[in-house]
Amino acid sequence: MEKISALLYKLFGFSLPEQASSQAHLVDDLYSVVMILSILGFVGVVAAITFFVIRFHRSKSEKSAYIPHNTLAETIWTVVPTIIFLGISFWGLWAFYKMNEVPDNAYKIKVTGKQWMWEYTYDRDGKEASVTDVMYVPIDTPIVLEMTSVDVLHSFFVPSFRVKRDTVPGMKTMVTFTPTKLGDFRIYCAEFCGTSHSKMKGTVRVVTKKRFNQWLNFEIKEANITDPVELGSRLFNRKGCTSCHSIDGSTIVGPSLKGIWGKDSKSTDGATHKVDADYIRESILKPQAKIVQGFDGVRMNSFAGQLSEKEIDYIIEYLKTVK
Ligand code: CUA
Repeated sequence: MEKISALLYKLFGFSLPEQASSQAHLVDDLYSVVMILSILGFVGVVAAITFFVIRFHRSKSEKSAYIPHNTLAETIWTVVPTIIFLGISFWGLWAFYKMNEVPDNAYKIKVTGKQWMWEYTYDRDGKEASVTDVMYVPIDTPIVLEMTSVDVLHSFFVPSFRVKRDTVPGMKTMVTFTPTKLGDFRIYCAEFCGTSHSKMKGTVRVVTKKRFNQWLNFEIKEANITDPVELGSRLFNRKGCTSCHSIDGSTIVGPSLKGIWGKDSKSTDGATHKVDADYIRESILKPQAKIVQGFDGVRMNSFAGQLSEKEIDYIIEYLKTVK
């Protein structure tokens, strides 16, 4: 059976995406059979027309015989296609249910569609991690996606897995698949969902089980950091603070932030200010309010709107530790 399936895919599947899940052949087999029937139908009809045109060619003056109907012919051309089409629909129904059987040991990932991105949430021992860039899945492992949407209808579509299902606000939908090939595969949104619908793409990365566990451990750890200093340090690096402010005393563009906490800072107007939480907060939100002496030629952009109050607190906690 598997060999027939592989042969059919070779013959008729040249226009289909590669098969990268264990159930991809369920769709492709049906496609191939419909293809074969279409070819047979086309050839049969054209052959019959050609035969009749030649065999029953008459000159214009001859009158054709009056044949109102032929019960045998009509029965055959009604019953045979009916059986074929019912067969196709039952096969399709069977394949549909087969593709939606979730194995007991399936690994669950939550998928959320939102304008205009996909978010994947992983769970390990009650701790969660959400990622939006690449969806990692382990090879040869049954995966079940529990999906929803936060705004409008989207449709989660991975052609190489033959997986496509709408995500609906307030409702859970699911798809299941078992990836069989390592590598990156494209995720599309297949439901028009607004101006950037066509850009709502993603990547699913099939990796070895070992690599998947390493990746997941890292993501779960990253997502569950509660230490404000650690969080502040990450923000400090991620928001680009390091491109102007060193933490080792050297001057990059702006003043170094090494050991500033609790010290006095002289501003260009000659006044002295103690570096405390309020001072740092103001320097982040209104950088021009107090300019450190010697840096009057440098303009820092405000981070108002880019950092939440909480995030500013984390950065303050971090700066306290930069000695
Ligand atoms: Cu989301 Cu189209």
